[in-house]
Amino acid sequence: MAILCAVCTQAQNTRSKAPQLGKDPIDKVVAAMTLEEKAQLLIGGNHEFSIDKVGKSYDLVPWAAGMTISIPRLGIPFTVETDGPAGVRIKPTRDGDSKMYYCTGFPVATLLASTWNPVVVKKVGQAMGNEVLEYGCDVLLAPAINLHRNPLCGRNFEYYSEDPLLIGKTAAAMVHGIQSQGVGTSVKHFAGNDQETFRTENSSQISQRALRELYLKGFEIAVKESQPWTIMSSYNRLNGVYTQEDYPLLTTLLRDEWGFKGIVMTDWIGKRNTVAQVHAGNDLMMPGQAVQVKEIIDEVKSGKLSMSDVDRNVKRMLQFIMKTPHFRKYAFTNAPDLKAHAEVAREAAEEGITLLKNDNNTLPMKDVKTVALFGNGSYNFLAGGTGSGEVNKAYVVNVQQGLEDAGFSISEEIKALYIGAGEEIPISPGYAKRNAANSDIAVITFSRQAGEGADRHNTKGDFYLTNKEKAIITNVTNAYHAVGKKVIVVLNIGGVIETASWKNIPDAILLVWQTSQEGGHAIADILTGKVNPSGKLPMTFPMDYMDIPSSKNFPYNYYGEHFDASKKNIGYTNYEEGIWVGYRYFNTFNKEVSYPFGYGLSYTTFEFKDAKVKKSGNNCVVTVSITNTGSVAGKEVAELYTAAPKGKLEKPACELKAYAKTKVLQPGESEVVSMTFSVPDMASFDEATNSWVTDAGTYKILIGSSVQDIHQTLTLKVNKAIVQKAQAKM
Ligand code: GLC
Repeated sequence: MAILCAVCTQAQNTRSKAPQLGKDPIDKVVAAMTLEEKAQLLIGGNHEFSIDKVGKSYDLVPWAAGMTISIPRLGIPFTVETDGPAGVRIKPTRDGDSKMYYCTGFPVATLLASTWNPVVVKKVGQAMGNEVLEYGCDVLLAPAINLHRNPLCGRNFEYYSEDPLLIGKTAAAMVHGIQSQGVGTSVKHFAGNDQETFRTENSSQISQRALRELYLKGFEIAVKESQPWTIMSSYNRLNGVYTQEDYPLLTTLLRDEWGFKGIVMTDWIGKRNTVAQVHAGNDLMMPGQAVQVKEIIDEVKSGKLSMSDVDRNVKRMLQFIMKTPHFRKYAFTNAPDLKAHAEVAREAAEEGITLLKNDNNTLPMKDVKTVALFGNGSYNFLAGGTGSGEVNKAYVVNVQQGLEDAGFSISEEIKALYIGAGEEIPISPGYAKRNAANSDIAVITFSRQAGEGADRHNTKGDFYLTNKEKAIITNVTNAYHAVGKKVIVVLNIGGVIETASWKNIPDAILLVWQTSQEGGHAIADILTGKVNPSGKLPMTFPMDYMDIPSSKNFPYNYYGEHFDASKKNIGYTNYEEGIWVGYRYFNTFNKEVSYPFGYGLSYTTFEFKDAKVKKSGNNCVVTVSITNTGSVAGKEVAELYTAAPKGKLEKPACELKAYAKTKVLQPGESEVVSMTFSVPDMASFDEATNSWVTDAGTYKILIGSSVQDIHQTLTLKVNKAIVQKAQAKM
């Protein structure tokens, strides 16, 4: 015993001689680190070796995406980084442990953005953050906020919108929610990671104006409004330079211009140019390989890599580690309140579900007892997308269970058909007719899956409904209309699909995206009117795929060719459309769309009146009164767009600058909502002078319930142009 104590004391003494993180000045800790320790700390902990060879502790949280290493002699703990944007992604079982480690599958990011409600988004973040904390992790690798440049990007379900303001405000709310639990976030993938095809080699060729106004703006808002602990640099190249090695992007823009105070970690890639990454300000290489540690050590010794760059990044890593639960020695429980979090998921889904069509008040359902459930998605329902955005959840409530739990009886015969087939099955006119006789209404659910690593295709069965799916809609609608009954189509999709060619057939269309593990319950609450839908589209539904300007520069027809750096949309993708993305394009050039940005119906109606603007200095406060003029309670969203006067630069007809959602308004009740923005928020980016320019002149303020439905218009005079010089060029 005595020897053990002596060794302990000696170790304790050694340790007590070494400065301790959190107890001694951080510069002292940096100075006490060996070059190998510094190199080790900048490389993720999932590699073959570590200083303290801790063996199995690499499995601190099984299936967590990554770790940073510990240096016990300096009081530096491990940290654990885990996915993803729809909830915590860890292994649900553990060897020799009968407990299940399920996490809550929340609504996908696109559905959260469809709420247009930062309060609800923050609440989801709080629940997600609590699961990160209680399962012993330190950072959630979310939110993912790349712009919806093209509807066929495989990861759009993990992303929010085609509009950078909606992206930024939603991301900031999510970051605030998650970080309120004392854990970190990793806003990703910074930047221009807008396709999955050859995502690790493809170069996004983006103009400085499109970069600044669209692809970077969401990140800028998120950083300035919520200070995420970390940013994840993306796999791709940006204008030929890997973002992970891009000093203007990661240091000049992110830190010098935007004031980002956290660390940058790479996306999960092997060794690249570690020296360039360290120099650029990429602090942490994930998941981490020993060869990267060796390269740092060797290149500092060779003089190729400056010690000041290494020390700068090491210091930022230590500052990050000091925020983490592992550093605080938080006693996590492995028992978050999953029941309570499931309720949060259900409420958020209900807040974002979007009513696209409701002819003759088909919804909410009335005098319905038996529902005929068609469509594979009614049974094989999608709670979320695939890849690192997946969650290992305890259950998924599909449409059938949701309706049964709400007291409806579901045609057993049809259910048996689908459960047996596991895919779309043809519904003949005769079969539809027979079911129309013995059910009160028909619900048809179509699903679309997508995920990381691959983009979607503009084919039937993906962007377009198949002939079989269209025949189901036609045959069922003909049969039910023949006996005076109604048909509802439910879209359980991860990204935009074509709707124009068939939307006139059914009586109602409900867009539920990938709805969370509580999807069936949320859908039933909307179909029954227990909750009045208030979701609004965060992107445009076009008439057809090739109407979208970016489509001619997107790999929608990629089927496994080999990589070729010189090949368009494979080696490089030319963002030829510039700023003309989504409503910025369709609205400005008056192109017809199937459903416009910001659109969503309600079971009630609203009136907008008495809009006012108050400007003090550069700060603008706009108020508008919204009254529920219908017969049921509901929420509305006020969307505030500004239209700039003609200037040197060609500008979109209007751009979203603020929004606000009402509380639940009872019939006849009014609420005055307030929205703020600054005059420089209306600036355009002038490449010739590399600066933001807000032209002098008279601006219009357009307040509406979608980008096409404007109810109130104000004017705002800017007497003197404002020019803000930017530093970085990417
Ligand atoms: C993946 C994804 C990223 C994820 C990371 C860890 O490749 O691009 O979003 O967080 O690796 O799983």
